Amino acid sequence: MPALRVARLDDVPAGRPTLVEANGLRLVLARVKDDVFACQDACAHKGGPLSEGRLSGVRLACPWHGWMYDVRTGECVLPGRGHRVASYAARVEAGEVWVEVP
Ligand code: FES
Repeated sequence: MPALRVARLDDVPAGRPTLVEANGLRLVLARVKDDVFACQDACAHKGGPLSEGRLSGVRLACPWHGWMYDVRTGECVLPGRGHRVASYAARVEAGEVWVEVP
């Protein structure tokens, strides 16, 4: 899968979800210390914008009804019923954030 540069690390504040677009996809970046994780922006419940949600550690809460995701995997942990959003491999190189997108 090709990796695309989607942001500078400095533009992804720790603890605040950040919306980016890559290959026509809307992704939410979540910075946890110096790691960055990438998931699809649209919540699996009713499509709420996860990039406008609240990030606590690796947990990202949807702003619409509070479903909560583990940004490392895209797995919905509240309510834990097997829902998930797509997650994409992300890495930081030389201060730039790269994400593997289809
Ligand atoms: S749309 Fe995200 S919790 Fe409902």
